[in-house]
Amino acid sequence: MVTGASRGIGRAIAIALAEAGADVAINYRSGEEKAEEVARYIDDLGVDVWVYPADVSDMEQARQMREQISKYFGRVDILVNNAGINIDKFFTKMDEESWNKVISVNLNGVFNCTSVFIDDLIESGHGRIINITSIVGQMGNIGQVNYAASKAGVIGMTKALAKELARNNVTVNAIAPGFIETDMVAGIPEKVKEKIIAQIPLRRFGKPEEVARAVLYLASDHADYITGHVLNVNGGMYI
Ligand SMILES: NC(=O)c1ccc[n+]([C@@H]2O[C@H](COP(=O)([O-])OP(=O)(O)OC[C@H]3O[C@@H](n4cnc5c(N)ncnc54)[C@H](OP(=O)(O)O)[C@@H]3O)[C@@H](O)[C@H]2O)c1
Repeated sequence: MVTGASRGIGRAIAIALAEAGADVAINYRSGEEKAEEVARYIDDLGVDVWVYPADVSDMEQARQMREQISKYFGRVDILVNNAGINIDKFFTKMDEESWNKVISVNLNGVFNCTSVFIDDLIESGHGRIINITSIVGQMGNIGQVNYAASKAGVIGMTKALAKELARNNVTVNAIAPGFIETDMVAGIPEKVKEKIIAQIPLRRFGKPEEVARAVLYLASDHADYITGHVLNVNGGMYI
């Protein structure tokens, strides 16, 4: 189950998991056409695919998503909490709505989806939760107080839940991407991009597929003994 898989990193994760042979349920909020395109691509790979629109920040929608998936698709063994948004502004301009919205999707969304799939993951006997956090949750960033708080929250949640779920052989890890070429960073002006790239030892933004490969690793048997870890995929920007 990959949330926010209609485009960007989520899309790449869903495709990578499908290419590795997993049946994939994909979620999106509003981009139906794009989500259907991802589903057609995955369908052509010969695995089962299920598409479901739901706002992860709404617990009731998350519950309905789980109900439909379990009725028509089956048990979820791997949950990738990827859906996320940013509403950037300086703290002096940060209104309650921008704060609450980002926390609702990025942090409450992880809580909601994890809550509704937790029984599946425990029943699986080898469940995997992979949360997509951000370098910004580790090092902060100007204009992103709300986003940084939400992503740091996801890291705390990942570590606490890893300890709780170890007895059920469910591993809980996070991936902290740096700057990845998706719609989320497309709006950054060229001059600012150049300044950011100057701070990245590998001197480029990452690709969604590079984050997806890290997810694939954490989802695989190769990562059986890894839990509570935050895996950086950031070109060395934060070490
Ligand atoms: N790109 C980066 O540089 C970067 C760096 C670090 C971390 N991240 C994190 O990586 C994740 C993916 O980012 P991205 O760059 O791929 O973003 P993106 O291109 O903007 O795509 C966001 C995805 O999340 C979905 N989504 C947004 N709000 C949702 C909601 N309330 N419920 C369900 N789905 C929702 C979108 O669906 P619709 O289009 O249908 O609304 C879309 O599929 C996010 O958690 C982001 O914070 C990104």
